[in-house]
Amino acid sequence: YIPVIAIDGPSASGKGTVAQRVAAKLGFHYLDSGALYRLVALVAMRSGGDLGGDEKRLSEVARELDVVFKGTEIRLGNEDVADAIRSEACGNAASKIAAYPAVRAALLARQRAFRQLPGLVTDGRDMGSVVFPEAALKIFLTATAEARAERRYKQLMAKGIDANIATLLQDIQERDARDSNRSVAPLQLGADTNLLDTTSLNIAQAVDSVLQQYAE
Ligand code: CDP
Repeated sequence: YIPVIAIDGPSASGKGTVAQRVAAKLGFHYLDSGALYRLVALVAMRSGGDLGGDEKRLSEVARELDVVFKGTEIRLGNEDVADAIRSEACGNAASKIAAYPAVRAALLARQRAFRQLPGLVTDGRDMGSVVFPEAALKIFLTATAEARAERRYKQLMAKGIDANIATLLQDIQERDARDSNRSVAPLQLGADTNLLDTTSLNIAQAVDSVLQQYAE
């Protein structure tokens, strides 16, 4: 038996950081499923053209992704694209291509292959609903849009990237709407999923809450 902890939630909720720390504490593997959608977006953006609207071609890109996750590195062929896929442009493009059923289907087996002993912590939008419906623990990690915009702002400023809170808030609200209203794998709080609102929690508190729920 290989346990899975599925942490889903909206953009900039901090689920990636929380999921990584929970995985480190338990000695489990970690899958950032959003990175896969971002990688497909990156390849599509680089190849130019009107790839954005071509579902079949995008699903081929998804199936053929030559990616290896190695510590903090994300190797696409011989290149480390861990930073390149974090741009807002890439995140927005990822959110658009993630609405294509064929792209999601192409990434399914690749995601499930991360389930290895002693266990997996994964984060995304549909980890508990579609990819790992049998997960031992399902968390919906969220915070108000304002809190998330502020977190993203601080994150960008810390990296020396100039940002604007109002623009970030608008981006987050648009992404929320797109991710929760799409017809395939919409982001929703499932009946078998525990809500974790981190608006007034720091990272350590959110991590402790997940670990405690897993121990119960
Ligand atoms: O946290 P943030 O939204 O900035 O990025 P992400 O988690 O890396 O996901 C990027 C985009 O990929 C999201 O806006 C989703 O539309 C999509 N995604 C998805 O559809 N399903 C997943 N399991 C993970 C991400």
